[in-house]
Amino acid sequence: MKLVFFGPPGVGKGTYAEIVSKEFSIPRISIGDILREKKKENSAAGRQVKAAIDKGEFIDDHLALDIIMKRIKEPDCKNGYILDGYPRLISQADLFKEKIDAVISFEAKLDVIIDRLSGRRVCTNPKCNAIYHIRNNPPKKEGICDLCRSPLSPRKDDNEDVIRNRFRIYEEKTKPLADYYRKKKLLISIDANGTIEEVGKETIKVLKKLNRKSV
Ligand code: AP5
Ligand code: MG
Repeated sequence: MKLVFFGPPGVGKGTYAEIVSKEFSIPRISIGDILREKKKENSAAGRQVKAAIDKGEFIDDHLALDIIMKRIKEPDCKNGYILDGYPRLISQADLFKEKIDAVISFEAKLDVIIDRLSGRRVCTNPKCNAIYHIRNNPPKKEGICDLCRSPLSPRKDDNEDVIRNRFRIYEEKTKPLADYYRKKKLLISIDANGTIEEVGKETIKVLKKLNRKSV
């Protein structure tokens, strides 16, 4: 299964991608996680990435394509993958020529999403990147990752000004991509207002149905 997970900042794309990744044994490829690692590089590309993502702006389409193409050629992707956050522009979708099976669009109310972003904590170990929420999905020990014991922290782009900018860009530039994929009959919408468990279950149900149809 080659999937794209689509939706506004904080709706839970990364969280559901982790659940689906475990269920179907296909990797979650989070372009955001890759970029947060890349921004630490002391190179022209690293500085370009840092300047963009700390403000919630998008990186260059060709750089995004290169990153994804390199990653999906790795051996763990041979049975499929979940692209978490890519493509997110029509121009990126036009450049990305791989055949995908479905685009899962997660939708939730704005106040629900703001609450999710304001309580998010992420694992600081780049090999882990686990996602928590101080109320909705807290770690067993406060501030410590259950999986790898590294410290957790809020994300740098989860402050009020940058969140506002990310939403503005989503509404203006990313949302039109839903229609683009709807016209190609690839879009499947999922109500993501429920709990992590509920949305995770619904997503797995939808994907199992999709799998049955394609065999
Ligand atoms: P990226 O890292 O992809 O950020 P985003 O799209 O803004 O999405 P988030 O990761 O913030 O949210 P999410 O939907 O994954 O939610 P999560 O699962 O964490 O991108 C970052 C930046 O990189 C962009 O701003 C841009 O600069 C750049 N970039 C990325 N892609 C690019 C591209 N294609 N081209 C160019 N530039 C690009 O969940 C959020 C919180 O809610 C967590 O705390 C979680 O525990 C909680 N939660 C989740 N689901 C539920 C639920 N159902 N109930 C209760 N709590 C929940
Ligand atoms: Mg994410």
